[in-house]
Amino acid sequence: MQAMTCSPSLARLAAATTRTSKTSLSLLLSYQTTALTRLSLSHCSQLNKNKQDRQQQQYRNFTHTALLNMSAKLQPAARVAGRRQDVWSIINEAAAASPVQPIVNMGQGFFGYNPPKFILDAAKQALDRVECNQYSPTRGRPRLKQALSDAYSPFWGRKLDPETEITVTTGANEGMLSAFMAFIEEGDEVIVFEPFFDQYISNIEMPGGKIVYVPMHPPKDGAVRTLSAGEWTIDFDVLEKAITPRTKMLVLNTPHNPVGKVFSKEELQKIADLCVKNQIIILSDEVYDRLFYVPFTRMATLSPEVEKITITVGSAGKNFYATGWRVGWLIGPPNLIQYVAAAHTRICYSSVSPLQEACAIGFEQADANNFWDVCVKDMQSKMSRFNAVWDELGLPYSEPEGGYFVMVNLAKVQIPEGYYFPEHVRERARDFKLAWFLIQELGVAAIPPSEFYTDENAQIVEDYLRFAVCKEDAVLEDAKERLRGLKKFIRQD
Ligand SMILES: Cc1ncc(COP(=O)(O)O)c(C=O)c1O
Repeated sequence: MQAMTCSPSLARLAAATTRTSKTSLSLLLSYQTTALTRLSLSHCSQLNKNKQDRQQQQYRNFTHTALLNMSAKLQPAARVAGRRQDVWSIINEAAAASPVQPIVNMGQGFFGYNPPKFILDAAKQALDRVECNQYSPTRGRPRLKQALSDAYSPFWGRKLDPETEITVTTGANEGMLSAFMAFIEEGDEVIVFEPFFDQYISNIEMPGGKIVYVPMHPPKDGAVRTLSAGEWTIDFDVLEKAITPRTKMLVLNTPHNPVGKVFSKEELQKIADLCVKNQIIILSDEVYDRLFYVPFTRMATLSPEVEKITITVGSAGKNFYATGWRVGWLIGPPNLIQYVAAAHTRICYSSVSPLQEACAIGFEQADANNFWDVCVKDMQSKMSRFNAVWDELGLPYSEPEGGYFVMVNLAKVQIPEGYYFPEHVRERARDFKLAWFLIQELGVAAIPPSEFYTDENAQIVEDYLRFAVCKEDAVLEDAKERLRGLKKFIRQD
């Protein structure tokens, strides 16, 4: 008991520790000093040496734990503290380590050129207008909502109400986060097809959603022949079995990143039938909706029943070659959009005002400038310009039906025996090694798509790499010239 009276106030320290959000590290350290001084006070001379030692050890252990707890409190939440390096940082690291400089970046999906002049001019003019530099209404600037209604109503076959059926978001990504925040409760399940756009995962997990993965498969002979991206398929039995009473949402992406598949009407109908039957909200990510090279069906337009459960996602970044503008939107029935808009208001209040105005003008003037047709023709021409190198090298690829990514199968590329890879690349699927190898040997960056699969399914795409062709023609030619260097590593059989 005596020991307790002369010991530092453990209770006070404990209280201090639990208050660490308010208490600074220096405050705790000063507690420690004061407390140790107290231990040497005269009362303590009444204690025998053993007791005192034990007391001091006990105290040291306690302060050590307290300090550990303190630093634990500075640790990030699990939702942002990824345990392993993500693909983007590995690619950047590989690029920095490459002897071939500068790297040709065919990895990330940003454009290597500007939006068209009529849209850039609209942005510059918007900056001169007082109201365009202030908060926009939370659901978006009226002119953009009207322009979206005018642009999308013909696809829906009826007038979309700009006030209740459309909401503007900070890029498609924040729009999808808002949708998950609006509908997902802890433990609700969300079906996601692999390969997935990586942001879905954290966006679903943030409100506590559980992801149920359904893999997409390339055809078995994808390593030996060039085929259509449309031949990548999902197994509908697996999809049906993935549905449980807790399935709240399903995320679909068409045209698809990274596969380049445009889901056929029949495939969409099968997915929709399951969702209607089980009352599952469909989040249809259609950000590449202006880049399709085969007939494209929008999920919401299948039938009134499907429309009732579908939220369609759009992106001005993808539509107008302006991924940095961060303007997106969601279209859906009022009873769904209302809550998505409420979540968006909590997350970021409203989105970038002058660039919304520019996007409104972009939609208003797109047809007069023949912009949508030009988009498709330009991207198709880039696609065939770039893919010519794979034909030349005899490496098969999935001919995209939409979007600006191409998946190339590099099973025939032989990485020399004993080639050096850093530990975190060595332990990943073969596509990570291929990506590292291309950067080191040729100075060309591409993305390993197993990053967009779960570990269990990573082997499905271990021989593939994803290349983004939304780059200047000169960059594509440079990349092709470098890729010809692969010839000596290709197995001839
Ligand atoms: C499939 C898919 N969805 C959404 C997005 C995000 O779009 P935004 O830039 O408008 O947020 C991307 C961007 O790469 C994408 O590929």
